[in-house]
Amino acid sequence: MGKKAKQTISSKASLVEVAWEVCNQVGGIYTVIRSKVPTMKKGWGENYVLLGPNVNPNVSSDFEEDLTLDSPVVGVVRELQGMGWDVKVGSWLVSGRPTTVLFNPNSVMHQLGEIKYCYWKDHHISFDQHDPLMDQVLAFGFMVKEFLSRYAKLCLEQDMDVVAHFHEWMAGTAIPDLRKEQIPIQTVFTTHATLLGRYLAMNDPFFYDHLPFLNWESEAKKFNIEPTAKLERACAHGAKVFTTVSEVTAQECVHLLGRNPDAILPNGLNIERFSVLHEVQNLHHRYKEQIEHFIMGHFFQSYSFDLSNTLYFFTSGRFEYKNKGYDLTLEALARLNHLMKEQGIDKTVVMFFVTKQPYMSINQDVLTSRAIMEEIDHNCDAIMEQLKQRLFMAAATNEKHRLPDLNEMVDDYWKLRYRRTIQSWKSDRLPSVVTHNLYHDGQDPILNFLRNANLLNYESDKVKVVYHPDFITSTNPLFGMDYGQFVRGCHLGIFPSYYEPWGYTPVECLARGVSAVTSDLSGFGNYVKHIKKGNEAHGMYLIERENKDFHSSADQLARKMLQFVTSTSKNRIQSRNKAEDLSEEFDWKNLIKHYNKAYEMAIAQFSI
Ligand code: UDP
Ligand code: G6P
Ligand code: GLC
Repeated sequence: MGKKAKQTISSKASLVEVAWEVCNQVGGIYTVIRSKVPTMKKGWGENYVLLGPNVNPNVSSDFEEDLTLDSPVVGVVRELQGMGWDVKVGSWLVSGRPTTVLFNPNSVMHQLGEIKYCYWKDHHISFDQHDPLMDQVLAFGFMVKEFLSRYAKLCLEQDMDVVAHFHEWMAGTAIPDLRKEQIPIQTVFTTHATLLGRYLAMNDPFFYDHLPFLNWESEAKKFNIEPTAKLERACAHGAKVFTTVSEVTAQECVHLLGRNPDAILPNGLNIERFSVLHEVQNLHHRYKEQIEHFIMGHFFQSYSFDLSNTLYFFTSGRFEYKNKGYDLTLEALARLNHLMKEQGIDKTVVMFFVTKQPYMSINQDVLTSRAIMEEIDHNCDAIMEQLKQRLFMAAATNEKHRLPDLNEMVDDYWKLRYRRTIQSWKSDRLPSVVTHNLYHDGQDPILNFLRNANLLNYESDKVKVVYHPDFITSTNPLFGMDYGQFVRGCHLGIFPSYYEPWGYTPVECLARGVSAVTSDLSGFGNYVKHIKKGNEAHGMYLIERENKDFHSSADQLARKMLQFVTSTSKNRIQSRNKAEDLSEEFDWKNLIKHYNKAYEMAIAQFSI
């Protein structure tokens, strides 16, 4: 492979990025890939290609097939299609519209036995347990390898280097074979978390103390994840360049994967600043009104409170109760509720938990209340319209210039309808703490905490809770807004994670001008500690969890929340602007250099 002495990225190089979350949102890896596309396209042009699995049922809305693209990948895709495989080429419909190839793992499932046999024979990993996700991952990896071998050959003929960058073990299963078969490409592997680390952190309250002394193999056996742990190690060791997303996770790589990362690639965002500063404020105002609409529908049938004195807090992400710090957040909320009552603070906090837990349907009472409120809204519009027309008519015909009796101007029909709707709406029930009917309501840790702490949306509670066990999307009937808009309408994002290789959610808050809490154990929190602007004036609150017990961290969080609750509206307006300033540090424009360095390291391998 020593044909060229090339050290830097040139136009004669192609970058192929492979991830399970291309066109398929699961968590933050989707955000890494998606937000990076415009910057990658700028650097690599048409030589930038994404590979992903065709497993998302809604893929057709995100992806446009196009076999006429002027790209060498089209020829390879046609060849694979000729073998009867379900492979699609086209564009992912996101900013930058990258050339994307999607592989349907089910189309090679009949070869699964052979794929597994080869993995065992060549890499000594046996996948003998039935695991539908692992089967898909292995089938996908096999397809990726076949694609890359052909693509590399084609590029070689055109004197073009190929770097393949794999994100996470689910996308990296092709690495060991690419290496074994000496396919002429260079590989980069990024781990966004170690699987074993995730399991251990969930189960061991002293995970970070124990980490240097753990034996990966016996721990993997204990959690029954040996094949995956081995696969992850094979990816980490097989790649020419091995990277991870933060210093925090680099420690895990050393102890659990047995390889020191060659580079740290912090995650960025595509930050778009408005040309006028007050736009951030206007958007907050607009989306807060939409959240208020939801709040009225949800709470006001039981009792009302002053919305101009209400703050909206939220947390969001995949359901990892301890790792994401939901346990700590709940404990701190209970304490905040107590402190606010004790100090007689005349404010209300509504806390949203936005996560994913299996549910059957949206809670019927929640839906009905919302629908009735819409009906009241409609009645008000009708009354207003009638009143306006009649008042205008009276103004034109009334010679005495006196204001007529407005009550007389509304038909009894509307008066009655208005009164009846309100009557049918008002209820003695407490507003539900959860918006959906969960499959495992009785075992749900959030619900169980709320029940045990008696934090059940009583009128006297200063802290109210809305647990929404699904991600927020614009088609969602309860909010009717997308996640980014919801974030903008809130006041504070709370993410005091115990295990978090990076943690996009607080960065996304800052980028939308919303203050955020993170922890010193998250990759992002750890990074922010070392930058000048990473402080509370910029809307960034850091909770210490490293070397602290659960209760002192909960206390710290409760006090930070209380400090936020008692801040003035003027302070909040200022920190919205400053939060945005801080987020600029995380623009891909600034962080892409880390990726480029890793690619240069990979390309340099061609000359070894
Ligand atoms: N997210 C979303 N909709 C929601 C809640 C979360 O799209 O309703 C996204 C959020 O924008 C973020 C990702 O989920 O980009 C979570 O990424 P993070 O790195 O914080 O955690 P991960 O899930 O990868 O552990
Ligand atoms: C924005 C709007 C202001 C509004 C403020 C409320 O700044 O431009 O008109 O008063 O939001 O902020 P708050 O933090 O109280 O929701
Ligand atoms: C993983 C981690 C998360 C990180 C994301 C992107 O899913 O859990 O902390 O932000 O990857 O790197």
